[in-house]
Amino acid sequence: MMISREQLKSAESAVKSFHVNDHSGHGWDHIIRVRNLSLKIAHIEGIENLHLIELLSLLHDAGDDKLHESKQGAEFFLRNIISELGMNEAEQSWLLNELKSISFRNRHIYTGTIESKIVSDADKLDAIGAIGIGRAFTYGGANGVKLHSQKRDESTVISHFDEKLLQLKDQMHTKTAYKIAVERDRFLTLFKDQFLNEWNGKK
Ligand code: ADP
Ligand code: NI
Repeated sequence: MMISREQLKSAESAVKSFHVNDHSGHGWDHIIRVRNLSLKIAHIEGIENLHLIELLSLLHDAGDDKLHESKQGAEFFLRNIISELGMNEAEQSWLLNELKSISFRNRHIYTGTIESKIVSDADKLDAIGAIGIGRAFTYGGANGVKLHSQKRDESTVISHFDEKLLQLKDQMHTKTAYKIAVERDRFLTLFKDQFLNEWNGKK
């Protein structure tokens, strides 16, 4: 599908204020990083529909249940933005499906195009490496999650590394994202080892 500059502008102004006020790790800076990283991956992978990549990046978290009062509220917000883009019904449902495929939770339900796979890769890359570490601790601070605990079953920022972040590298769709993920994953492991050494008085 061809996406125009006007459609990108409309999508950007519709989601910007929503993300600017977010404190759950989905601020406007996250959207911009995902957009830039997606465009970089697309360039290296030789994918040409950059406007679609940009649109998917801008809208990829707008319909996330976690950022809304309810699942219905989330879908309503996203459908409303899409309905303002001047697309016909079929194009609108196609776009909605693409956006749903980007979410990790939906990966077994919806299959997307290479463009949505690239945005999904960029979204996951933003959760690892130095930025990912920063986001995890920011999330912990905002949600009262402890740094770390000796208790095995307590959920902490450090346990989130094992529960999710260290698994993301092997879930990349593209070769280009996988290469970046290997570097970022190495940094996560290095950080976690150093953290635990300091915690345990070994360094
Ligand atoms: P996404 O919307 O990309 O699937 P999430 O909503 O799960 O991501 O998380 C947003 C950010 O908050 C990510 O950087 C993630 O690592 C971080 N985060 C989510 N849950 C936790 C947690 N329990 N502890 C620490 N960080 C978390
Ligand atoms: Ni995201």
